Amino acid sequence: MPARIISGKDIAAEMRAELEPQVVELKQRGITPGLAVVLVGEDPASQVYVRMKAKACEKLGMHSETITLPEATTEDELLATVDRLNANPAIHGFLVQLPLPDHIDSERVLLRILPTKDVDGFHPENVGRVAVGDPTAFPPATPFGVQHLLMRSGVQIDGSHVVIVGRSNIVGRPMASLLLQRRKGGNATVTVCHSHTKNLPDVTRLGDILIVAIGKANFVTGDMIRPGAVVIDVGTNRVDDPASEKGYRLVGDVDFEAAQQVASAITPVPGGVGPMTITMLLYNTLQAARRWAEN
Ligand code: GUN
Repeated sequence: MPARIISGKDIAAEMRAELEPQVVELKQRGITPGLAVVLVGEDPASQVYVRMKAKACEKLGMHSETITLPEATTEDELLATVDRLNANPAIHGFLVQLPLPDHIDSERVLLRILPTKDVDGFHPENVGRVAVGDPTAFPPATPFGVQHLLMRSGVQIDGSHVVIVGRSNIVGRPMASLLLQRRKGGNATVTVCHSHTKNLPDVTRLGDILIVAIGKANFVTGDMIRPGAVVIDVGTNRVDDPASEKGYRLVGDVDFEAAQQVASAITPVPGGVGPMTITMLLYNTLQAARRWAEN
């Protein structure tokens, strides 16, 4: 029997519908949750992501600001923008879209964001607090979305062996931290694999849950999956497709057709992890606004 499809699109819609009344409630108390996104340069993929974030924010009734800066923006100018957002009471959370142009030191910029407004969860203070299991820290949206996707689709995390392929700061590492936490949505046994892992298929086949985030199209083949495993595909890769209108189509890091014959459940690309990412950014922003209201 082919694997059950875990629809991030449906679960994201369900979560956003739950967030909406929370936005209304905060607005009734005189606080409109506000998210700002800073985009430097004209990277087409980043432009798409930033537009999607702003649109989702507005749709939920939240205040949204997009600050677009030219490619030639200096590091000091960007830091001044961050300072202004840190001080802006209408903005409860913000992020600087990555990657930044090469002449800007991303680390310095991330360090300048107030951790209480760092809804992307990239500031080292949030990274550290997520790593030690602090429930008030902001986890990065993508792994946080994967965790909610698993919980809401009834997948057993507690006690399961989760194998993560990829050790990035945006997905793999924080994913491991979240699944290790000693609470609901955690308590997993976690293995993180990467480019230096020996006998990778032997390791991936150990996973009751296999989470793949390495950014290589169709990298995980059917023989790398334990029969009956749950497969979460975080990848979104463009591959040439002359038959499609755009000339390309999106595929994940997992060979979907093959995996579907082996796994018990799997996320599609698109419509899997992607929609959850923006939802969790909105979720974090709402948390930030709520905390701001309480202080
Ligand atoms: N670039 C790709 N994904 C992300 C993200 O989640 N946050 C930021 N700031 N930049 C990104």
